[in-house]
Amino acid sequence: MKFRLSLILLWALAFVIPNLVLAQSKAKYVGAKTCMPCHMTPKSGAAYKIWQGNAHSKAFATLATPAAKEIAQKKGIADPQKDEKCMKCHDTAFGVAAAQLAPSFKPGEGVGCEVCHGPGSEYKAMQVMKDIDAGKIKGETLGLVKPDEKACVKCHNAESPTYKAFNFAEASKKIAHPTPKP
Ligand code: HEC
Ligand code: HEC
Ligand code: HEC
Ligand code: HEC
Repeated sequence: MKFRLSLILLWALAFVIPNLVLAQSKAKYVGAKTCMPCHMTPKSGAAYKIWQGNAHSKAFATLATPAAKEIAQKKGIADPQKDEKCMKCHDTAFGVAAAQLAPSFKPGEGVGCEVCHGPGSEYKAMQVMKDIDAGKIKGETLGLVKPDEKACVKCHNAESPTYKAFNFAEASKKIAHPTPKP
């Protein structure tokens, strides 16, 4: 009995745990356009369309406005669209190692799906997404994140040069994109 238990333990240590870690660390950023085909229809909740209509998809473009340039100039930043001090909150996967970017990923999409939901390469396949939704696979083992308030305040904090007090409940309503119940 003891022998069998330690075998199971050994098996878990040798295979299961490394595979879980591997699946998560293999995850690459694929870009919001990759999520679009499946998350555009009204039946799916149209997350992509809603995102396109809100501030997050415009966050990179915002850094090219006169207002952004003025803020940057005061801080001695030449180009906000190239500087880490602005880009870390205004774009997706800025500063992430090239090995973690899929060929489909293009910088400049603003605060994309994967900023909040995690890099998508391992969970984006139709069957995988359905199995996650049905509870057959735990999304987090493939890098999928269920974002909460902590995810927002990584950016919505006083380090933002234009910081406005952040109310999670109100802000969530403004960006909400629920899947309609069948
Ligand atoms: C090939 C189609 C397809 C692609 C591509 C796809 N999804 Fe999905 N996704 C689905 C389906 C189907 C579901 C299950 C039904 C639903 O909740 O909309 C789902 C569910 C989800 C859920 C809810 C998971 C849960 O816990 O129930 C999230 C979050 C999500 N997708 C995010 C993304 C993101 C981010 C991307 C891009 C990186 C993406 N999806 C790409 C088809 C897709
Ligand atoms: C990677 C950084 C980042 C994260 C994470 C983030 N945001 Fe934002 N958010 C921004 C930026 C940058 C803007 C402003 C974009 C612009 O105006 O161009 C913004 C704008 C907004 C706005 C519109 C501003 C307003 O007051 O109407 C809302 C609402 C919002 N975010 C809600 C959220 C919520 C809710 C979360 C968490 C679920 C979240 N954000 C996570 C960076 C982020
Ligand atoms: C600023 C953060 C943020 C961004 C950007 C974002 N989401 Fe979400 N998403 C959330 C939050 C918060 C929830 C609600 C999580 C929950 O209910 O537990 C959510 C929920 C979802 C759900 C599940 C809805 C349900 O009813 O179960 C899907 C599907 C989804 N997002 C897809 C996307 C796609 C596709 C994109 C890009 C086009 C995207 N999201 C961009 C924060 C974000
Ligand atoms: C810590 C994250 C963070 C950093 C760093 C950051 N921003 Fe932002 N930025 C935000 C958020 C969040 C918003 C949405 C409004 C708010 O709460 O400030 C925003 C909004 C903006 C806006 C729109 C103003 C408005 O009133 O809606 C401009 C312009 C801007 N940022 C410029 C910059 C520039 C230029 C830099 C670099 C010097 C920068 N930001 C660095 C998070 C950040």
